[in-house]
Amino acid sequence: MKKILVVQSSARQEGSLSREYANNLVAQLQAKYPGSWVVARDLGAEAVPHLDATLLGAWMKPAEEQTDAEKAASARSDQLIDELLAADIVVIASSMYNFGMTSTLKAWFDHVLRAGRTFKYTEAGPIGLTPDRKVYVVTARGGRYTGSPLDFQAPHVRQLLGFIGITDVEFVNVEGQSMGPEEAAKGRAEADEALAALA
Ligand SMILES: Cc1cc2nc3c(=O)[nH]c(=O)nc-3n(C[C@H](O)[C@H](O)[C@H](O)COP(=O)(O)O)c2cc1C
Repeated sequence: MKKILVVQSSARQEGSLSREYANNLVAQLQAKYPGSWVVARDLGAEAVPHLDATLLGAWMKPAEEQTDAEKAASARSDQLIDELLAADIVVIASSMYNFGMTSTLKAWFDHVLRAGRTFKYTEAGPIGLTPDRKVYVVTARGGRYTGSPLDFQAPHVRQLLGFIGITDVEFVNVEGQSMGPEEAAKGRAEADEALAALA
């Protein structure tokens, strides 16, 4: 039995490859670990707010000095971290937009990378506080970017996770989806193979 957090970030609900493959992966994990339960955080359906002065203000003050608005912003943000920390396995579905992750997924990372909760500063530099856990990142891309210097998505996601202490990260990339039917089919076949290899 595992607690699985699924973070979806495609803006589209229909036809999204990152959703489809992430959902397939979750079904695979549920079959492997019977009785697992899934928490879904759908940033495409309901984006989390960007960091703003209210939330940053809250982070700088002890709870008893926070305004009601700061307390509410802080509680919303805390919930995202609580969901992450409660999960044994995290599946992140990440569409590539403009060479990187979606702004909605970046906003989620801006909440969960929090000094004092998921990482801390030390004299030797910042260290992750998040116990390592399995994270799968399912990317969907119109082109092909694996290994390319233009891939600002996978290395960025890996860096953000590593910063908070999560290094057990595996990627499944659905690539070539805007390169014509043959390339799209090839990209899907490769992703199917990668998923099967994870089973
Ligand atoms: C706003 C936008 C920007 C995109 N930028 C890129 C890009 O920089 N490189 C790329 O290969 N594909 C790009 N695409 C194509 C998507 O990565 C592709 O359609 C992918 O399947 C989207 O993920 P989804 O299927 O989960 O929605 C872009 C699509 C959109 C809507």
